[in-house]
Amino acid sequence: MQLTDYEKSLRDGMNGRAKAQAMDLLIRYGEAVGAERLIETNNVAGAFNASSPSTRHIVEKGFDAVYSELNLDSDEVVDVPHVEANTCQLITGIDNDNWELQGASREMVEQQRASERYLGERGVNMFATCTPYQVGNVPVQGEHCAWMESSAVIYCNSVLGARTNVEGKESTGAAALTGRIPYWGYHLTENRFGTHLITLETAVEDMMDWGLLGYFIGEQVEEDRPVIEGLSHQPDLIKLKHFGAAAASSGGVEMYHIPGVTPEARTVEEAFGPGRPVQHLHYGAAERRATFESLQSATDRKVDFIMLGCPHNSIEQMALIAQLLRGKKIHPDVALWVHTPRAIKQVAERSGYCDVITQAGGAVMSDTCPAISRRMPEGVRVIATDSAKQAHYLPAIANVQGWFGSVQHCIDAALTGQWNAEV
Ligand code: F3S
Repeated sequence: MQLTDYEKSLRDGMNGRAKAQAMDLLIRYGEAVGAERLIETNNVAGAFNASSPSTRHIVEKGFDAVYSELNLDSDEVVDVPHVEANTCQLITGIDNDNWELQGASREMVEQQRASERYLGERGVNMFATCTPYQVGNVPVQGEHCAWMESSAVIYCNSVLGARTNVEGKESTGAAALTGRIPYWGYHLTENRFGTHLITLETAVEDMMDWGLLGYFIGEQVEEDRPVIEGLSHQPDLIKLKHFGAAAASSGGVEMYHIPGVTPEARTVEEAFGPGRPVQHLHYGAAERRATFESLQSATDRKVDFIMLGCPHNSIEQMALIAQLLRGKKIHPDVALWVHTPRAIKQVAERSGYCDVITQAGGAVMSDTCPAISRRMPEGVRVIATDSAKQAHYLPAIANVQGWFGSVQHCIDAALTGQWNAEV
């Protein structure tokens, strides 16, 4: 791999052992994927904090040991310096406020908080959300990033036109300390053109529709790059967030184009660049119906847990949930958890939305989600969610039955304890 003089000096330990270990990792990773060089990045979103019982044995040796082992893949415990690139923490395992509700121990939340103080001293910003683009980390078109989290990566590449592969804990740990990441995959223009053309033959309107479309497309194209034509209206952040999260979970899609909407394709021709579609798929009422049915893993209509906010809710979603719950009480046998980034929770608190949700009997959660934390209310058997991604993962992870529907369907289930939506 070609390295600049500065990168060689990092590799050779001129700037400390931590950066040398980080360069060693990046060189090994880059060579494994055939990258010819590294690219500068000043935008890293990763998972650095120690928030699970599995890290406790390393925490006993100190947080430098945690970073060395989990974020640098290093047997040697190195002194971790201040980060070189702007870096933020994605989702964590524990809600710093609602940890008791999650069933976490005081010891674990204190470990997480101590870990966050250690990281903050080194310049890692504690966004603690899977949607950094909702709370201030909005890279510009063409910006090279090093992001983890599939739903964030697909948003970053497609909607923002910035460039990242799906990175891991180790590569983001190394990128944070060096400001470098291997130059391959979605960093290269030739890998960003469309592969499949999808023509819409039915209206795709609300957030649930966009989740269904994403889920269908992910299953069809797997890890390729769909180009979608035939929209009846302009989608917004919320719809594209749900579309991308669904496509990334059913198939592993990391980039798509919607000509006239996403920034790298003004037209279908531009979306495909020098290539041609390998397949032309159609999405009509039958495909929508089949996808909706495939997302229902439940048979029991008695629901006991409603999860909203995957990916984490925007302020507009919080406002809608409050509007639907105002003056009402959720069913006594049901738990309702509404997930939003901590920064948005502050706005929701100030706007009165959190009070409405908690007075109705729900909880507003931040920092985490059930799929990542593996924590839900005790004894849950049947969940309902407005997220195709959560409907995909949670039943498999937690061995529960799952219903998928709109926010309105889910709030209705929270109020009645029953899944009443047509399936
Ligand atoms: Fe975010 Fe958890 Fe969903 S990380 S995208 S809320 S599965």
